[in-house]
Amino acid sequence: MSEVPRIVLLPGDGIGPEIVGAARGVLEALGDFEFSEELMGGCSIDEHGTALTEEVLDACRGADAVLLGAVGGPKWDTTDPEAPRPEQGLLGLRKGMGLYANLRPVRPSPALVGASPLREERIAGTDLLVVRELTGGIYFGDSGRDGDTAHDTCEYSAAEVERIARVGFESARRRAEGSERKPRVASVDKANVLETSRLWREVVGHVAGDYPDVELDHLLVDNAAMQLVSRPADFDVIVTENLFGDILSDESAMLTGSLGMLPSASLGAEGEPGLFEPVHGSAPDIAGRGVANPLATFLSAAMMLRHGLDRPGDAARIEAAVDAVLDRGLRTPDLAGEGEAAIGTEEMTVAVLAELG
Ligand code: NAD
Ligand code: IPM
Ligand code: MN
Repeated sequence: MSEVPRIVLLPGDGIGPEIVGAARGVLEALGDFEFSEELMGGCSIDEHGTALTEEVLDACRGADAVLLGAVGGPKWDTTDPEAPRPEQGLLGLRKGMGLYANLRPVRPSPALVGASPLREERIAGTDLLVVRELTGGIYFGDSGRDGDTAHDTCEYSAAEVERIARVGFESARRRAEGSERKPRVASVDKANVLETSRLWREVVGHVAGDYPDVELDHLLVDNAAMQLVSRPADFDVIVTENLFGDILSDESAMLTGSLGMLPSASLGAEGEPGLFEPVHGSAPDIAGRGVANPLATFLSAAMMLRHGLDRPGDAARIEAAVDAVLDRGLRTPDLAGEGEAAIGTEEMTVAVLAELG
C-alpha cells in the first residue's frame, strides 16, 4: 500500500456526488489521502457512451481502495436491451476487480430504534451481517431476448459457493471473538426449488465441517425474509447468493431506520483493493435538494479504513462521530419522525466533522 493511500472516488449519479463530496471532507479531516475522481454510471454514459471505461477500471484496480456513491436514474432507464445502463458499470467493476464478497453490517444505532418501522422490542439487540455473494448467480449468467421471450440464467460453481461460505464462517468467528456466545451462520437459499441452491446447501454443509465451533442453519429465502422482521436479533451472519442478498439487505436496512444508514464493503482477493459503497441507490427522488443522508457513505468510508486501508482507529472515530450526532438528536428527513426537526446533508456533515474535532 502507498504511504499516502490512493483512493479512487466514483461519485456516480443522483445523490452520489452529494454524499461522496461529504465523505471526502470527512476523510480529509482524518489525514492525508490522495484522491482521484472518475466517472462511472450514467455520467460516464453521457461522456463516453459506456458506464465503465477501461481507463476507469484500470484506475480502480491500481488504487488502494475505491469509494462509490451510487449510479442510475430515470435519465438512463430503458427497456432497450441494446442501450447502455449505469448499473452495468457497477457490475463490470465488481467482476473486473474480482469483488466476490459483499459485507453489509446491520447494527441499528440505539438512538434510532424509534426511526424503524418495527417496534422497539423487536429490534432490540439486533446486530447482524449480511454476507452477499457478488460476482455470480443470475446477475452474471447468460441472458437475452428472443422475440417475445427473455431469459436470465442463474449459475454457480462449487468453488464460488465455497469461497463465499468461508467468508461467512470466518466473519462469524471474528464477530464472536472475545465474547462467550457461539458464532452462528444462517445460509439462505431456495433449495426446495432451485438446483443452484441445492449445490449451495451441499457445499456450505461441507465447508461447515471446517468450522465445528460455528452453528449453521439453512433457511429458505422466503422464510428468511419473514424471520428478518419477526426476530432480527436472532441473526448473526447471513450468507447468501447474489440476488437474495440484494433483496434481504435492503429489507434489513429498515431495521436501522433508513436505507440511508447502511454501509457496505465489497472485497476480493487478499491485498487487492476493495470497493466501499452505501447499500442504497442514487435516490433520484431527492437528488439535488441537499437532503440526502450521508451517514451510510461515512460508515462505508469507515469500512474502507478498517477493511481496505488497515486504519481501524480512524474507522472507529467515524463510527463514534456518527453515533454521537445521532445521540444529539440530529436527523436527516429520512430519519426524522413525525414532528421531528430535520437537517440537510451539509449540516449533518458539519456536525460529524465537529465530532471528529
Ligand atoms: P434507492 O435506494 O435509490 O432509493 C429508495 C428510496 O430510499 C428512495 O425513496 C430514496 O429517496 C431513499 N433513499 C435512498 N438513499 C437515501 C439517502 N442516502 N438518504 C435519504 N433517502 C435515501 O432505490 P431506487 O429508487 O430503487 O433506485 C434508484 C436508482 O438507483 C436506480 O437506477 C437503481 O438502479 C440505482 N441503484 C444503485 C445502487 C448503487 O449504485 N449501488 C444501489 C441501488 C439502486
Ligand atoms: C446494490 C444495487 C445493485 C445490485 C444494482 C444497482 C446493480 O441494488 O448494490 O445493492 O443489484 O447489486
Ligand atoms: Mn440493492
